[in-house]
Amino acid sequence: MTAGIRTESLSRQFANGVCALRDVSVTIAPGEFVALVGRSGSGKSTLMNILGGLDSPTAGSVYLDGGKVEYRDRKSLINLRRTQVGFVFQQFNLIPTLTARENVAYPLLFNYRPAEERRDRALGLLDLVGLSERADHLPHELSGGEQQRVAIARALVCSPRIILADEPTGNLDSKTSAEIYHLMRTINQEQAITFLVVTHERELASYCDRTIQLRDGMVVA
Ligand SMILES: Nc1ncnc2c1ncn2[C@@H]1O[C@H](COP(=O)(O)OP(=O)(O)OP(=O)(O)O)[C@@H](O)[C@H]1O
Ligand SMILES: [Mg+2]
Repeated sequence: MTAGIRTESLSRQFANGVCALRDVSVTIAPGEFVALVGRSGSGKSTLMNILGGLDSPTAGSVYLDGGKVEYRDRKSLINLRRTQVGFVFQQFNLIPTLTARENVAYPLLFNYRPAEERRDRALGLLDLVGLSERADHLPHELSGGEQQRVAIARALVCSPRIILADEPTGNLDSKTSAEIYHLMRTINQEQAITFLVVTHERELASYCDRTIQLRDGMVVA
């Protein structure tokens, strides 16, 4: 079967000499929900950024749903970020001047979808994450957990097959974190979307199908 995410001997050395990833080869099946763990500085965000086309490796290859990522081709990277993967960040990264609905619909602007379709799609996703009532609220009018739900809806809006979440519950209390994990797991199971989620919390790793552990840029488990 074609892997959801596959890396082959992936390495990333920064200009300052730091080697953040060394020979990382991992395979994640389509529809798997995998936790990425490891100490601070072990290379988790570096790996997530490369998988999401926000950074490029210095060696090795990445395959997303069977297709090789061409890091030197700017257009295909833009396409990757637009259609293949959805990103969820620790800091939510919502646009403060846009409502929840407008934040969710925002990525569709670049796909040139008609306004009404963008609106309906955003409202449908806000419903999915349990926030229909908050569609017209600005981010500062929402709790942290609600903001992260909006960010998850936004990550889904272009129908990616892969969601990359870098410490999505890092700014949330433990009860809200568990709710966010439950939501992501439900979406994973209902829509067979592949999830790779960075987490520090041991109990949250137990929600996942399995764990990949990094240490000093290498896969150790
Ligand atoms: N742009 C950069 N330039 C130079 N070094 C970097 C850069 N980004 C990250 N690093 C270094 O690469 C290593 C891995 O960083 P990374 O952010 O991937 O770790 P992490 O596992 O996500 O840590 P945390 O749990 O603290 O978020 C660290 O030593 C970091 O200092
Ligand atoms: Mg990080």
